[in-house]
Amino acid sequence: NEIIAFNHELLAWFQQNGRDLPWRRTKNPYYIWVSEVMLQQTQVDTVKPYYDRFITDFATPEALADAPEQSVLKMWEGLGYYSRARNLQQGVREVVEKYDGKLPDDKKKLLELHGIGPYTAGALLSIAFGQPEPAIDGNVMRVMSRVFMIDADIAKAKSKKQFEEVVGKLIAEANPSAFNQALMDLGAMICRPKRPDCPNCPVRRQCKAYSARVQEKYPVKSRP
Ligand code: ADE
Repeated sequence: NEIIAFNHELLAWFQQNGRDLPWRRTKNPYYIWVSEVMLQQTQVDTVKPYYDRFITDFATPEALADAPEQSVLKMWEGLGYYSRARNLQQGVREVVEKYDGKLPDDKKKLLELHGIGPYTAGALLSIAFGQPEPAIDGNVMRVMSRVFMIDADIAKAKSKKQFEEVVGKLIAEANPSAFNQALMDLGAMICRPKRPDCPNCPVRRQCKAYSARVQEKYPVKSRP
């Protein structure tokens, strides 16, 4: 079965080659939230020291909720996209007010929080709560578009549904946290935008684009 083979190869590779990252050593949903917000527009290596400082200074949702905004922005200096920090603090304040400082493990409730969209909700539900939810970003769309030769234009918002459907079928048969983070690592380490390292890819035998030697034609992306 195709799904089982793909998941098996991907997760075996992840166990051996997955990156050891600070936010992968915790199950604290608040810390995972912080990491996912930082990682949205910033590279992993840049994020690491910021993440460590942030969770040291703002160790709990209450600590972040009570902090002056200026001190949060100061901590964010150098990461850029400062609205992320403001949105995170506002979302955390809502969690403290509405949920006694505990992140809900419910998609609808997460999506109602300030600064949490479908990607962050999916990352939190899968990584922090073990639920089989896709977390679709550009890297995941690139990997999936190649493996399954999906021609949907990733520049178009409606294409995301197709990727959610494919990932949803796969993740239902896997460890959700490992599956989503394995896709992130595969996209960063092997299935790179340019010159992907197909000979070393754990899912090359499952990859339709590699079989047809058209991996660099994917993903399909129109000019904005
Ligand atoms: N990019 C977004 N989320 C990530 C995660 N949890 N690990 C590595 N890279 C990521």
